[in-house]
Amino acid sequence: MKTKYLLLTATLIFIVFLIGCQEDSDLEQPFNPDLALEDFDYFEEAIPYESTAYSEASNHDKIAGLGRILFYDSRLSQNNSIACASCHHQEIGFSDNTQFSSGLHNFETSRNTMTLVNNAYQISHFWEGQRGKIEDHILSPISNHTEMGMKDIEALVEKLSEIEAYNKLFNEVFDEPINEELIAISLSTFVASIISYNSKFDKGNENNFANFTNTEKRGKDLFFGKAKCSSCHGGDHYAAEWRGNANIGLDKEYEDQGAENGKFKVPSLRNISLTAPYMHDGRFETLEEVVNHYVHGIQDHPDLDWELQEPISLTDLEKSELVEFLHTLTDYELVSDEKFSDPFR
Ligand code: HEC
Ligand code: HEC
Repeated sequence: MKTKYLLLTATLIFIVFLIGCQEDSDLEQPFNPDLALEDFDYFEEAIPYESTAYSEASNHDKIAGLGRILFYDSRLSQNNSIACASCHHQEIGFSDNTQFSSGLHNFETSRNTMTLVNNAYQISHFWEGQRGKIEDHILSPISNHTEMGMKDIEALVEKLSEIEAYNKLFNEVFDEPINEELIAISLSTFVASIISYNSKFDKGNENNFANFTNTEKRGKDLFFGKAKCSSCHGGDHYAAEWRGNANIGLDKEYEDQGAENGKFKVPSLRNISLTAPYMHDGRFETLEEVVNHYVHGIQDHPDLDWELQEPISLTDLEKSELVEFLHTLTDYELVSDEKFSDPFR
């Protein structure tokens, strides 16, 4: 009997030891200090709109390269298990394919993970549409307890300073030791470089939509016409943020009030084919369900946006044409572009 307990205790100690080793080996995950110096052109195309972040700096490509490494490094979380990329996956437009994402210790986020594509052009961020530049908000996931759970950014600065390769990289790129501001600049420059301009729609814009099928053309007319989508999802990235947040009548009573009274940021529709599930709470699995909401599901809420007060009336055929059009907003080059990929692979 005694030996049995001894054996059990020994096994337990061994398992705990193994888990301990695991964390240590994570800390020393293979790290190639040359990675940031990979010769990627992050801001290659003259981007057709104004960018907010550090794309103007003369060494912006190196800054973005360093940001890429940070973005994929799980050592930015409290127990080295979660990176930004654990929730923002390149192959699905830097979003996540679950309703809520798992962060530190498998805690679930309270809202659906957002795409990061074309964030540089946006003046409001996160589902509540906080105003400002991305560099002002970029560090919040690191200390958020359900996401990455670092005690504070100072703790992260200390942690990264213990990693020789990072000391070298920060010195090389900024000529300065690691600090909070440089981490924010690097991450936001990388995120700002994630720009989509190669969707079927972008190409169509240049050739009078000769590349569109007739169905897609009819869907486009609906989107910009009687379906009224473009009055909120307008402009170059299909999010007319100058209108501010909106309540789109998802519920009569909202469990999550968003910014206030069920109002949420108007999200960009770029890469929408890849970023399901949809809405702040990921309630819709498909674009068909989303379109059905706008046509049949709008709830009578005192703060329902004025644009949606009059019903949108579409036939089944028109609904499917609209969905076909929405698929043209997706950029498949971006999601396989090596310069945005995991440098630890
Ligand atoms: C555990 C999952 C998770 C992790 C890890 C995570 N995010 Fe997010 N991200 C989210 C969710 C969920 C939202 C929406 C949050 C909200 O509005 O309440 C979001 C929103 C954002 C936004 C706003 C996008 C927009 O369109 O306004 C940015 C930028 C962002 N994250 C960047 C990052 C960066 C950089 C990191 C790493 C430092 C990171 N995220 C780590 C889940 C995550
Ligand atoms: C009054 C402004 C407004 C109009 C008009 C509008 N939308 Fe939206 N749309 C929003 C807002 C705000 C959200 C986010 C709502 C939320 O999550 O609570 C949203 C979310 C979406 C999403 C999910 C995006 C994501 O990343 O989860 C899709 C897809 C979408 N709308 C498509 C459309 C289509 C198609 C039309 C036209 C039939 C349309 N919208 C009309 C404001 C609008």
